[in-house]
Amino acid sequence: MTRHFLFLLGSSRSDGNTELLARKAAEQLPGDVEQRWLDLAAHPLPDFEDLRHDSDHVRPVEGNAGLLLDATLTATDIVLATPLYWYSVSAHTKRYLDYWSGWLRTPGIDFKATMAGRTLWGITSMADRDTVVADPLIGTLNHSAAYMGMRFGGVLLGNGSKRGKVLEDTAALARAKTFFAQDPPFARFPYETEAAPTP
Ligand SMILES: Cc1cc2nc3c(=O)[nH]c(=O)nc-3n(C[C@H](O)[C@H](O)[C@H](O)COP(=O)(O)O)c2cc1C
Repeated sequence: MTRHFLFLLGSSRSDGNTELLARKAAEQLPGDVEQRWLDLAAHPLPDFEDLRHDSDHVRPVEGNAGLLLDATLTATDIVLATPLYWYSVSAHTKRYLDYWSGWLRTPGIDFKATMAGRTLWGITSMADRDTVVADPLIGTLNHSAAYMGMRFGGVLLGNGSKRGKVLEDTAALARAKTFFAQDPPFARFPYETEAAPTP
């Protein structure tokens, strides 16, 4: 089966470190893997409105919601390329994820079943040199993948604040070379993987 990678750029600036790192990782993908790149800032979604329990959902067919839904449904692999903002994903990325909650209720697309078994990946750049501060972001993506029954490829982390700085993070560039070569496991919530308590 041909793999279709959807790269969703979540930075609030263009040509940033996160995109640079994502492009380094994507360079390693085999030629028969399709790549689609969408900049969430250039395709802004309106504020998410929680209508899950109030109205019938209709499938968005136009506008950025329609575009992003179709791109999401087509992808076998979704790569959230988001800078670390306040220890989590960027607002553009978070809003896109919030839309998943609406799509879960949209008739005719069976969003959860369709996404199950597909793979979620993260790519992030951050100013802090200690990667432990990115744990909330990693948890957000892991748990979201677990909820959806998706595989999770983990988060490729790079260091940099000023544009272009991530290209000096040689360890991150080395990790980028093999990032997409893994065979990601199904995501699990922590309570599913922790050892059972002793009686
Ligand atoms: C709104 C905002 C919040 C940020 N929050 C964090 C943070 O919590 N931790 C951190 O290490 N860096 C933080 N940074 C720095 C960015 O993660 C860093 O500059 C990153 O390289 C930006 O990625 P980009 O070049 O792809 O936009 C923040 C930057 C901005 C603009």
